[in-house]
Amino acid sequence: MSDREKVTLRTLFKKVEEGIPITMLTCYDYPTAHFQELAEVDIILVGDSLGMTMLGYDSTLPVTMNDMIRHTQAVRRGSPNSFLIGDMPYMSYQPSVESAIRNAGRFMAETGCDAVKLEGGSEMADRIAGIVSAGIPTMGHLGLTPQSVSALGGFRVQGRGAQQAKRIMDDSKALEDAGAFAILYEMIPSRLSKIITEKMETCFNISLGSGPHAHGQLLIYHDMFGLYPKFKPRMAKVFADAGKVIQDGLKAYVKEVREGEFPQPENWFSMSDDEFDQLMKSIE
Ligand code: KIV
Repeated sequence: MSDREKVTLRTLFKKVEEGIPITMLTCYDYPTAHFQELAEVDIILVGDSLGMTMLGYDSTLPVTMNDMIRHTQAVRRGSPNSFLIGDMPYMSYQPSVESAIRNAGRFMAETGCDAVKLEGGSEMADRIAGIVSAGIPTMGHLGLTPQSVSALGGFRVQGRGAQQAKRIMDDSKALEDAGAFAILYEMIPSRLSKIITEKMETCFNISLGSGPHAHGQLLIYHDMFGLYPKFKPRMAKVFADAGKVIQDGLKAYVKEVREGEFPQPENWFSMSDDEFDQLMKSIE
């Protein structure tokens, strides 16, 4: 296990102040969380993207609070020291401020996470204010917001037009005023992200496909390791092709079993002659 100090909001704002970029990745399971802990990733997001990356749905909409709680608990066990954020799933906060506070509270109490994230602009500012007033740090999410993918017309860049860009800036201000400690911008133009970063006063900017002018970067774990079979978003960089390594390993396993090369003596267990003779007598 790593012996690094626990990452807190203080740690993160210190990095912002000192101009040290914040690292953030998604994660959904215990072994991956262990590796991210060893790599000293600052923020881990248990995203509702797990509906697509782990459960094989075509969108994030079928993901439930119980799904999120189970995966966030596993990630916390694997990474005790990262700043862990639970992603509020579809319809866990949209119906009312009360539902938002209740479900954010479940995340904190049942998983040991450090904060929650929710999607949406000024129309969700009261949800953020409510959760923050309950003492729960909250991250906003603007630009491409996958829970509204149908209304947004698909997985596409947001804010390329001046009018839509202005709306994202206004939403940003509303979330900052509501008390968000950070806002994630997914797939907005880099120039827009730069102005937003410069205007931020009390929160910080994390970019997912929104360029370098942010306080930190986020990638979806499955995209950076070639583990999502359906598509690879243009913004994602494949840092290592783990998908290929796993595929090659699986093919080798199937071949070796079929050809009698696996298992070998080091892969099985022995029994003494004495015990074996006794067993044979007892069943004769
Ligand atoms: O669910 C998720 O992983 C997310 C990212 C797309 C930002 O919200």
